[in-house]
Amino acid sequence: MINVGVLGATGAVGQRFVQLLAEHPWFNLTTLTASERSAGKKYRDVVKWRLDVPFPDNIGDIRVSPTNVASLKEVDLVFSALPAEIAKDVETACANGGLAVCSNASSHRMEPDIPLVVPEVNPDHLALIDVQRDHGRDGFIVTNPNCSTIVMTLALAPVRGCSFQKIHVATMQAVSGAGFEGVPAMGIYDNVIPYIGQEEQKMETETIKIMGTFRNNAVQPAPFQVSASCHRVPVLDGHTMAIWLDAREPVEKVKEAFLRYKPPIEGLPTQPKESVHFFDEPDRPQPRLDRNRGNGMTVSVGRLREGIRFIAMGHNTIRGAAGASVLNAELISSRKYL
Ligand code: A2P
Repeated sequence: MINVGVLGATGAVGQRFVQLLAEHPWFNLTTLTASERSAGKKYRDVVKWRLDVPFPDNIGDIRVSPTNVASLKEVDLVFSALPAEIAKDVETACANGGLAVCSNASSHRMEPDIPLVVPEVNPDHLALIDVQRDHGRDGFIVTNPNCSTIVMTLALAPVRGCSFQKIHVATMQAVSGAGFEGVPAMGIYDNVIPYIGQEEQKMETETIKIMGTFRNNAVQPAPFQVSASCHRVPVLDGHTMAIWLDAREPVEKVKEAFLRYKPPIEGLPTQPKESVHFFDEPDRPQPRLDRNRGNGMTVSVGRLREGIRFIAMGHNTIRGAAGASVLNAELISSRKYL
């Protein structure tokens, strides 16, 4: 077993990490950190645990530590669910101090020597870990993309071979993506908010890096453009998105590609049986019906039409955040980087 910790363990994504790591077969969760407000207290007394998820009693009595390298003596690997502005320096200090860091924060995603990975899409980009080591780091940082970008790139994985140059996407994103205090209830009920700070830019830039090619010790950007419009809707969990590709392939061929898709990874504990599920039914996927497919790790696609147009939907705090980072850690471990 590898001892692991979670940075920012009391937040919306942090508690998803705890949920996924509490009984993990490879990782032993020993350390939880948060702000000075929570430090020193028992995890169960400070976390605003979700009512719809059973509380992991084996973790509840762990005392929350302050978020710094000194708190992480027991662990070899940390997962970061910190706000981006705090993550930048803390994650750098952890990696320089010899730790493996799997981060859900956005602060390091676009740095040239930091892998931005979705295991089914670009596992080969983990080779950037060696580039970080060549740059003199004892440990390393691996990031996962923004929640909407993960859902979209995974939905695109089966159709990568199609001849598109432009992707248009319009998202309908759940409130849990904004964190516990993120969206006031009075603002979101009976409403759609047509703005999520930085989200469109993240989808447009991160996708090009993830779907790029690893060559000459660097990621060469993918040769297409992404144009995104992002919206917050009154859904608790599950980001839905309408995707348009300017592909020429007939719809039947694209459908075959979805149905035949096999990801390039196997044997990872958090990996779902099906990474991408294809619906033929005209009214699927829907967040309430489909977000927990594959324990929240499967991305569902449907409404495939000429164009090529389709709908994709995935659980934003599991597949789109904590689950993505845990799957990255499993891939790193299986490839002997730890
Ligand atoms: P805390 O609960 O003590 O405030 P969310 O984005 O859902 O609000 O979660 C943010 C996470 O990051 C929480 O665990 C929060 O801890 C932690 N956090 C917030 N600010 C800091 C800080 N300045 N230093 C360390 N951790 C922080």
